[in-house]
Amino acid sequence: MKNRKIGVLTSGGDAPGMNAAIRAVTRAGINNGFEVYGIRQGYRGLMDGDIYQLNSWDVSGIIQAGGTFLQTARSEEFRTVEGRQRAYEQLKKFGIDSLVVIGGDGSFTGANLLSMETDINVIGIPGTIDNDLYGTDYTIGYDTALNTVIQAIDKIRDTANSHNRVFFVEVMGRDAGFIALHSCVACGAEVAIIPEEQNQLEKARQYLSVRGNKRKSTIILVAEGAKEGDVRSISEQIQSDFPNLDIRLSILGHMQRGGTPSAKDRIVASFMGIAAVQALMDNQKSLMIGWKNEQPVHVPLSKVIKTHKGVSHEEVACAESIGTFIPVIDN
Ligand code: F6P
Repeated sequence: MKNRKIGVLTSGGDAPGMNAAIRAVTRAGINNGFEVYGIRQGYRGLMDGDIYQLNSWDVSGIIQAGGTFLQTARSEEFRTVEGRQRAYEQLKKFGIDSLVVIGGDGSFTGANLLSMETDINVIGIPGTIDNDLYGTDYTIGYDTALNTVIQAIDKIRDTANSHNRVFFVEVMGRDAGFIALHSCVACGAEVAIIPEEQNQLEKARQYLSVRGNKRKSTIILVAEGAKEGDVRSISEQIQSDFPNLDIRLSILGHMQRGGTPSAKDRIVASFMGIAAVQALMDNQKSLMIGWKNEQPVHVPLSKVIKTHKGVSHEEVACAESIGTFIPVIDN
């Protein structure tokens, strides 16, 4: 077998289920004759040589934990040729010829460059709560985060109902509105303002202008990346347009990234980890393990980073068709 040593790291924002992926890469790697090395704190740890060999016991008891036991980081230095050269030297020092990167599109941009500039076989595993990677139906962490958001919104609904209030709730999603739209559908929130759509703020205005008194509460979800502005400025605009409404805002923040991974996140992450090792055994490189039709697929890293995945108009239309956005309440 050509590839004898695999390095594994997590990079970018942590996501529940990353531990299951590390565990699967480690165990599938060892069971197939590789040595597996854990790299702490993502690309930063890689450049600094914070690398140690993992055995099967090292990854025991981590599958149920949120976060990433290897820790993670966002590295500016790895964006530079010099940074990647430093990383390459560390990999050579440890005799590592294959690297599994668990992360999102920023992490894969670096992974793709490392792969083009060196002889390291790089495989990506999609790990981000945003679910915004091209070439895969699913990214590790999305299901857990969505369930966390849904629980939080249900609680906000209780207090909003009790006070007849309008709540603006900011959820994560810098470039995509998956969390906002899907939690909107799941919680029956009235409007979701997402980066992919232009007219959602106007829809919120229309909705509020016909809301009437029969409605006990209104919840308007705002994705972090909404083009109309941040949740604070949006809620201030609406408050000045509708001075009689009792408006509050809530920013869910990083609690969305934590927590015990769901069954789906543990299982998909495990199968992706196994598929990554299999790809290395087949001498594959520069690809991401995606998830389509409940199975792992191979997608070139170059394609993943070039193409944006967002919520489709069709999906928004579906959400509207069951009344989520429809401004007809009274009469
Ligand atoms: O990992 C994705 C994400 O959670 C985005 O939804 C969010 O915009 C960003 O990370 C926050 O990053 P950080 O934790 O570095 O502030």
